[in-house]
Amino acid sequence: MKDASPQTIYLSDYTPPAFLVEEVHLTFRLNPKKTRVISKIRFKPNPASKSRDFFLHGEGLRLVSARVDGQAVEPELTDEGLTCAVPDAPFVWEAEVEIDPQGNTALEGLYMSNGMYCTQCEAEGFRKITYYPDRPDVMGVFTVRIEGDEKVLLSNGNLVAKGDGFAEWHDPWPKPAYLFALVAGDLVNHPDRFTTRSGREVELNIWVRPGDEGKCAFGMEALKKSMAWDEKTYGREYDLDVFNVVAVDDFNMGAMENKGLNIFNSSCVLASQETSTDANFERIEAIIAHEYFHNWTGNRITCRDWFQLCLKEGLTVFRDSEFTADMRSAPVKRISDVIALRARQFREDNGPLAHPVRPESFVEINNFYTATVYEKGAEVIGMLKRLVGDAAYAKAVDLYFERHDGQACTIEDWLKVFEDATGRDLSQFKRWYSQAGTPRLRVTDDFKDGTYTLHFEQETPPTPGQDEKAPQVIPIAVGLLGPNGDEVVETRFLEMTEAKQSFTFEGLGARPVPSILRDFSAPVILERETDNAERAFLLAHDTDPFNKWEAGRDLARDGLIEMIVNGAAPDDAYLDAALTMARDDTLDPAFRALALGLPSQDELAQTLHERGHTPDPQAIWDALETLRHARAEHFQDLAPRLYAQYQVAKPYAPDAEQSGARALANAALGMITRLDGGAQAGRQYDSADNMTQQLAAFSNLLQAGQGQDAVTRFYDQWKEDRLVIDKWFMLQIVHAAPEDAAKTTEALTQHPDFTIRNPNRFRSVLGALAMNPAGFHHAGGEGYRVLADWLIALDPLNPQTAARMCSAFETWKRYDRERQAMIADQLDRILATKDLSPDTTEMVSRIRN
Ligand code: ARG
Ligand code: ZN
Repeated sequence: MKDASPQTIYLSDYTPPAFLVEEVHLTFRLNPKKTRVISKIRFKPNPASKSRDFFLHGEGLRLVSARVDGQAVEPELTDEGLTCAVPDAPFVWEAEVEIDPQGNTALEGLYMSNGMYCTQCEAEGFRKITYYPDRPDVMGVFTVRIEGDEKVLLSNGNLVAKGDGFAEWHDPWPKPAYLFALVAGDLVNHPDRFTTRSGREVELNIWVRPGDEGKCAFGMEALKKSMAWDEKTYGREYDLDVFNVVAVDDFNMGAMENKGLNIFNSSCVLASQETSTDANFERIEAIIAHEYFHNWTGNRITCRDWFQLCLKEGLTVFRDSEFTADMRSAPVKRISDVIALRARQFREDNGPLAHPVRPESFVEINNFYTATVYEKGAEVIGMLKRLVGDAAYAKAVDLYFERHDGQACTIEDWLKVFEDATGRDLSQFKRWYSQAGTPRLRVTDDFKDGTYTLHFEQETPPTPGQDEKAPQVIPIAVGLLGPNGDEVVETRFLEMTEAKQSFTFEGLGARPVPSILRDFSAPVILERETDNAERAFLLAHDTDPFNKWEAGRDLARDGLIEMIVNGAAPDDAYLDAALTMARDDTLDPAFRALALGLPSQDELAQTLHERGHTPDPQAIWDALETLRHARAEHFQDLAPRLYAQYQVAKPYAPDAEQSGARALANAALGMITRLDGGAQAGRQYDSADNMTQQLAAFSNLLQAGQGQDAVTRFYDQWKEDRLVIDKWFMLQIVHAAPEDAAKTTEALTQHPDFTIRNPNRFRSVLGALAMNPAGFHHAGGEGYRVLADWLIALDPLNPQTAARMCSAFETWKRYDRERQAMIADQLDRILATKDLSPDTTEMVSRIRN
């Protein structure tokens, strides 16, 4: 199989680098079209390697000169880098190259965004800056001199010198090149300080473009909370004198953990009451924490190679979810994470892009920054923690930091600290890293003479390249409820290791109702024959908030499936149970808002497909509309009561309590709008003093077909704010009727504010189309064509973002023949595009197969 594609890279081919880097000195002479990068690097032969072939990565560089130990050399240049004869002993490499930041539309390496210079080097962007062994297992100590007229010149580490037109930075911590960063621009800062628990004084800054100063305070608070939390929870302290965060408008991803100089997509750090929703605030807090936590899980201990990406990402996502659970509501965080996991990761795991948490091959690593690596990677760590317990988890993680600080590690290293700390054998557990696909867990039960038995069967369906799967270790949290609703057996962890396994509970007075997979203790699909009565019972009585929510969700979902497949009417059992739940003021409003959320169109399509049906996107949309309408009628008395009761009287704060109240009030507004055609939403729009309220009202007006006036007013109010205008683009498309979605998208691509150059804007239009499944999959196939047209246009400019957005097509095999044929045509059209990037070629080929 190894010759499938010449550029495929395999984990099994890993070899250590021939040369190691000791010290790196870089000088940047900034110029928009002709930046000079002068490097001086001390190399030494790697005793762990037999090879003495000297190779440096380099892409799109103009080499001006090169020297080895002061002697001019003429290296052999290739498309991928250079080779050169060097001594079999330590030596100094010097090179001068020229690059063009302004012409860099791929936003990888050094580029310009709104007149400022910035970098993105993960995964393999540093090779677009200078010649270097651009692989994470080569770690060096960097000193960087920046020469330029910009007011602010930043790089990693501590500032060592600054003068007219230059600044010098030194980062004492050895790091791989992907953590390098440089920023230069006329920026302003929001400053603060933090004293670490051992007394280090750290200067904190959030750097933004003038005009955005007012949107930094929340991110700064989140940063300080993250720093304190990591000390308290993981014993991890910050290790430099300064921590800089920069907001950049043009950015392919969310944010980047460069050592001491985190760079953020401005949408992931800038926030204000007027311009950001509660959900935006929560997300920003989590991303600030995520990038900060990388300082230990990612930077101090990094990855040996990119196959180990989950080593830093899975762990850091797990850590940021623990942080959010501590700062806000743990059950609400867990439920939201599972909703996202199912929507993104289960979808990936059950389609052509399925891959293990630790992939075994790739063409373009940027295509593997996926929900599987990140979110399933975090779930795997959550399972590990459940299996060994909290105390052993803490002990193992301490050992990890102690043993591996300063190293580039593997999943084997990670699992070994758990084995050493606990004496457990984790060889079977390791399958979670190597087997792709979501395990199905089938459950049956029986009860006899006071003994209750649960019978489990696990099976993981085949995924690309993996036909056979071995049984995995599944931690199953179970509690049992008695017939009166009391909990008769508190949560117990069953550790399933076999393909089929039974567990018994003794001494029960009556047949219990089981609450299985509490807190979603493993990322599996639970299959169990049950009935509405039992679900309503669990929704009313389960003490586990996740399973309580899940019971309501299952009721809603199966009712919808009945409507779609058999034309059933909305399910009264669901409507009554939802009403009882929503009316219960002892329940957290945020929980109730989540429990009133219905499965998404995509989740329903996925469920239909799993159950052997061909999903009809229009029928799914119709069923959801019908149910929403029936529910609005069923809630006719309750919705106005909830709406009034949960208006927040206090001054706006994006905290968990207020956000929960607003979420519930806005869920009520959704029901009210179904009956009043938008009158209440109109009033809310007029009186809103924050974006959460304004946007909810706007969405409801669009939904009700009453949005035309608001579309104009919203634009006029916010036309100077790029991040808010992104929302304006997105909502018009997301709420477009199925038959209008493609047309609306095309029309908005003609709007003067649309630009293909800004990834946020591009996603807010073309990404939004894919977020309207009934519109995207509308029978004529216009949605497919519009998206393909724009991906083809984007690819030569920004292959990374184009490639990622191809995943809109990943579910195509679920659909009927006509749709499959239309999608196949578009995929083939993309693949046939001249000079298509390797990024997009890889994605479309994997999807098409
Ligand atoms: N390490 C970053 C994070 O998770 C993501 C950077 C991904 N960038 C990329 N070009 N693939 O915080
Ligand atoms: Zn990360």
